Amino acid sequence: MRSTDFCNSLYRYAREQNGSNLDIELNGVPVLLIQRHEEADHILRVRSSGYRKNMDWFRQALGASRFSEDGEAWRVRRALTHDYFTQFDRERTTALACRYADEAGRQLTANSTRGALQVDDGVLRRMAVSVLVENFFGLPFADTGIDLDRIADLMEYGSAYSFVPAGRTDALYGNALRRLPALRRQVLQDLQIFRSSRVPAGTMLTGMLQADSNRDTGVVLEHELLTFFAAGAETSAATVGWALYLLALYPDVQERLRARARELAPRVSVDGWRALSEFGELATLISETLRLYPPTPIIARLAIEADQIDGRTVAPGQNVLISFVGIQHDARHRAEPWTLGLDEQSRRGPTAGSNTAFSFGPRICGGKQFALTELMAFLHTLLLRVRFETTSLEPPRFHWKSQMLREGGQPVRCLDITA
Ligand code: HEM
Repeated sequence: MRSTDFCNSLYRYAREQNGSNLDIELNGVPVLLIQRHEEADHILRVRSSGYRKNMDWFRQALGASRFSEDGEAWRVRRALTHDYFTQFDRERTTALACRYADEAGRQLTANSTRGALQVDDGVLRRMAVSVLVENFFGLPFADTGIDLDRIADLMEYGSAYSFVPAGRTDALYGNALRRLPALRRQVLQDLQIFRSSRVPAGTMLTGMLQADSNRDTGVVLEHELLTFFAAGAETSAATVGWALYLLALYPDVQERLRARARELAPRVSVDGWRALSEFGELATLISETLRLYPPTPIIARLAIEADQIDGRTVAPGQNVLISFVGIQHDARHRAEPWTLGLDEQSRRGPTAGSNTAFSFGPRICGGKQFALTELMAFLHTLLLRVRFETTSLEPPRFHWKSQMLREGGQPVRCLDITA
């Protein structure tokens, strides 16, 4: 199976064997696929020390980083960024996200005026990375000269390794193998700008550079940054893409949210996050977007100790994939798991998107609160500027590119409503 087809299989498993864990085989490797919250909680939180991250493919493509490592190597890297990612200035993040979403809205509507029938994914990625870089490194992303398309290509080619067992590169298609090394070199070279005086030497960057210069740590600045862009910007951009699709699909919801956005707008422009945080229905839409279309649809673990899971004996060396698609569509937890639900209950419980799609336990997403803050500001701003209409009612097919995108792009036309 080609890696890119895997998300389609995840939705098939979730429909056909809803609420059950499964034993499957991926390119000849036996894998335990977890589709129930109970066992995911056991693996990720209760018995987390018995499972390590299984990100060899990610490391091979993007380098070792906080995201891929375990044990001491993880702790050293986590200490470099964790406090910055979790103790960010919400007001500054909100202001930056509103500014870049306004710019993105202008570009999306201009594209639609020119006849585009899909949302340009590149516009959303630029919006998300701009907030991330300016927030944490204090300079506009445009000044870094980094080619975002190259990073996207690297993710695409790197993802081809996702489900290929070690030593089985023959299972890969030629293009990934051929293009990956040169792409990787170019991207790492682009990222060297962060070593230059053109980037203000803020405290987080200074700490990362110090760790990089200490050989014992194994930290490579460019590897951490690349993962940071992949984990932090591509995921948020994918979420906005799926949210725009849902808004287009449910015009009445869109109108209701826009009316509330307009009501709040004067206060948001003065009080920022303090006012935006009152927009409960938008927070529910974000949670539902993450539930129906989790941008990181699976996470991979390897058992390092024997265990018992759901009546199965798990031996060390067992591959485990946690399917957020399966968990979040489990019909035992909500009556209509396949449809958008915007009542207060939708944001609660173990299968709610904002409770599950960021993972849980010690390896929970380091940027969860940052992501939820910027997503609120992105969507609030876009609702004020743009009306979204579907250009196709075909159900989505999924494309795996280290996160879950829609094959062919989101079929949404963006109309300027500011005039
Ligand atoms: C909607 C947006 C996002 C989603 C859905 C998401 C999801 C995830 C998930 C599922 C993991 C855990 C992977 C695993 O256990 O194997 C993760 C890890 C991580 N994420 Fe996010 N993420 C998002 C945005 C962000 C942002 C904006 C940042 C940075 C500001 C970020 C930084 C990280 C980091 C550093 C880790 C590694 C945590 C660790 O193991 O120490 N993420 N993310």
